[in-house]
Amino acid sequence: MYTARVDAGLDAALPPVAACPERLHDAMRYAVFNGGKRVRPLLVYATGESLNVSPELLDVPAIAIELIHAFSLVHDDLPAMDDDNLRRGKPTVHKQYDEATAILAADALQPLAFSVLADIKGAPSGAAIELVRLLSRACGSIGMTGGQSIDLAAEGRTLTASELEHMYSLKTGALIQAAILSASLLSEGICADDIMALDHFGHDIGIAFQIKDDILDVVGETKIIGKPAGSDESLNKATYPALFGIDASQARCDELLAGALDELSRFGSAGVPLAWLARFIVERGL
Ligand code: IPE
Ligand code: IPE
Ligand code: MG
Ligand code: MG
Ligand code: MG
Repeated sequence: MYTARVDAGLDAALPPVAACPERLHDAMRYAVFNGGKRVRPLLVYATGESLNVSPELLDVPAIAIELIHAFSLVHDDLPAMDDDNLRRGKPTVHKQYDEATAILAADALQPLAFSVLADIKGAPSGAAIELVRLLSRACGSIGMTGGQSIDLAAEGRTLTASELEHMYSLKTGALIQAAILSASLLSEGICADDIMALDHFGHDIGIAFQIKDDILDVVGETKIIGKPAGSDESLNKATYPALFGIDASQARCDELLAGALDELSRFGSAGVPLAWLARFIVERGL
C-alpha cells in the first residue's frame, strides 16, 4: 500500500516522457521505476506511523528521498565508479541509454527532489526549510556523496571496523537516517528524547543495511539480487565481509539490529512497523 502510494507520487513528480527533452525524461523514469524495494520511503511512512503524522505529509519526503536514492544508484553504477551493468535485474541506466544521459538523468533527479520538498503543503511552520536542510546535508559531501568518495578511495585498502562503519554511515546511513528524521520534522510537538532515539535507530540500521548489502554481494545470486554478484570482490572494495568475514558481518548486523530495536521500546506498539522494517533490512534476501 505504501509502495503504491510513493510510486504514484513519483509518477506525478517526474516530468512526462513526452515533454522535451524526451530521452532525458525517459531515462529519469527508467532510473526510478525499475523495481526498487522502496525501503527509504517505507522508513518515512513507518516512522510517521509511530509519531501519528498523516500519510499525505509523509508522501513529500518519501518521494524526495527516493529520487535522491535513484540518482545515487545511477552514478554508483557508472564506469567511473562501480562500473556495473545490471541493476534491479535490468541494464543499468548508462547501458540502457548512454553515459552522458545517465549522468544528466541523475543530475536532474537531484534538484527535482528539492523542488518536491519546497512544494510541501500543510506542514508545521518552518518544516519545509528544515526538510531541505536535512536532505541536502544527507546527500552532500558530509553525507552520501562524501561516503561514496571515501568508498572509492578505500578500494584495495585495509580499513579498521570503525573506519568502515564511518564510510557506511555516510554513503548509506545518511539517507536512511534522513528518511527517519524527515518524519520527525513533520510531527507536531515531538520531544527531544524521541528524536534522539530515532536518530540512533537510523544510525544503527543504516550501517546494518550496508553490511547486509555487502553480505548479499558475496552470498547472493545475480538473478535474485538483481545486480552482479561478486562485484565488490572484483573491484577490491573495502567491505565488512572482505575484511572480517561473513560470520562476523552477520554478527555485527544482528548486534546493530538489537541496539536499534532497543531504541524503539519507548514507542511501544506504535514502533512495531519500524521494528518490522529493521528486521527486514537485516534478514532480507535481496
Ligand atoms: C542499494 O540500495 C544501494 C545501497 C545503499 C546499498 P537498495 O537495496 O535500497 O536498492 P533498491 O532501491 O531496493 O534497488
Ligand atoms: C552504494 O553502495 C551506496 C550508494 C550510496 C549508492 P554499493 O555500491 O554497495 O551499492 P550497490 O551494491 O551497487 O547497490
Ligand atoms: Mg558503490
Ligand atoms: Mg555499487
Ligand atoms: Mg553493494
